[in-house]
Amino acid sequence: MALRLGDEAPNFTAETTEGTLHFHEWIGTDWVIFFSHPADYTPVCTTELGTAAKYKDAFDQRHVKMIAISVDPLESHRSWINDINETQHTTVNFPLIADPDKKIATLYDMLHPNASTNATVRSVFIIGPDKKIKLTLTYPASTGRNFNELLRVIDSLQLTADYSVATPANWEDGQDVVIVPAVSDADIPAKFPKGHTRVKPYLRTTPQPNR
Ligand code: BEZ
Repeated sequence: MALRLGDEAPNFTAETTEGTLHFHEWIGTDWVIFFSHPADYTPVCTTELGTAAKYKDAFDQRHVKMIAISVDPLESHRSWINDINETQHTTVNFPLIADPDKKIATLYDMLHPNASTNATVRSVFIIGPDKKIKLTLTYPASTGRNFNELLRVIDSLQLTADYSVATPANWEDGQDVVIVPAVSDADIPAKFPKGHTRVKPYLRTTPQPNR
């Protein structure tokens, strides 16, 4: 069955380009972005892994680890990474899981037979320090992912984990946020001392509380 938000991310042991890892142990107390690639030596995946490497500092600042998976074997991953580093002018700086028997891809429902019989789709899972799934995204093989969007979602998830707020459409870090309906009008001044705007009884905004 497909994994859903709030489910525990299934645990596994994997061979990766950075050695063997036990997933939950490796997560530790961090957040994780776990993303799948249809196959090694494919053009879009090459740009995605190179781009992800360039975002590592931004994700590190947010205590987020990245980990990628492709169903090809480790030897193939290692030589493909040389190509990625060369063509994308970067150094891949996070583990790439080898999954030739497709065990982990199957565990995470990354194989969609009506899209492809042997390659994974482009799945993204954001997993919290509690090992629970916070976001799932599924892209077709033909569409490379937007890492700015993943950064934006992480900012929203981390903010809304700590405060009784939600983030509106196209929100970016630093912009006003929405006060969740569970907070009564009477409780707003104490919870949100920076002030608030009551646009409608159900739509109350406040400056981002952690900025
Ligand atoms: C790619 O990563 O470039 C790709 C993979 C499968 C189908 C199309 C593109």
